Amino acid sequence: MSKIAIMGAMPEEIEPLISKLDNVETMLYGANTYYEGSYHGQEVVIAYSKIGKVFATLTATMLIEKFGCDMLLFSGVAGAISDKLKIGDLIIADGLCQHDLDITAFGHPFGYVPEGEVCIPSDVTLRNIAKEVAKEKGLILKEGIIATGDQFVANAERKDWIGTTFNADALEMEGASVAVVCSSLNVPFFILRAISDSADMDASFNFDEFLESSAKVSADFILSMVEAIKK
Ligand code: ADE
Repeated sequence: MSKIAIMGAMPEEIEPLISKLDNVETMLYGANTYYEGSYHGQEVVIAYSKIGKVFATLTATMLIEKFGCDMLLFSGVAGAISDKLKIGDLIIADGLCQHDLDITAFGHPFGYVPEGEVCIPSDVTLRNIAKEVAKEKGLILKEGIIATGDQFVANAERKDWIGTTFNADALEMEGASVAVVCSSLNVPFFILRAISDSADMDASFNFDEFLESSAKVSADFILSMVEAIKK
């Protein structure tokens, strides 16, 4: 059986998962706490990375290389770019890009460095499982490109630029790191986000208000996915 990594960026994003685990054991490693346990008999390891691409890269790598996970599911919140996405809506990433990666001075497109790709696709099988789960539960699941960067975006102009440049529907601060780590190590990964704000001038206010509820929407869906994967 596989060992599933479930990752968030903030305590609020993993707390609704930890509270449902059986036989939890914690391990402190590299300044992160890892929670090993099982959910309905499925072995899982859960951790939050702290915010941003560097911390997310560290945690994703540890989940795979130290804890032996062979699949990674990310659960958390995002800012909406598409005006079709409202607070609490779920979006899965079909691809992830880094909106703040810029060596355009050398003639490369935004988000590209040599030997990398602008947009890294997530695992198709996991996306299909998610669609089945959504159908069974009567939930609406949107799918699109998610743009990642080391910025909390609270500015309509910046958000529109990210949307146009990367054809992105939502933005956050960790997904593309997970994508880089998992695709480099050939580990299937899945990125799910529930919308907490619209990355505009109200973003920080909305984020504070909706972080907990949207994080729970995402976490609940991830738990259903774990059950579906186990089958
Ligand atoms: N995660 C949730 N909302 C965000 C925003 N506005 N910018 C970056 N990451 C986010």
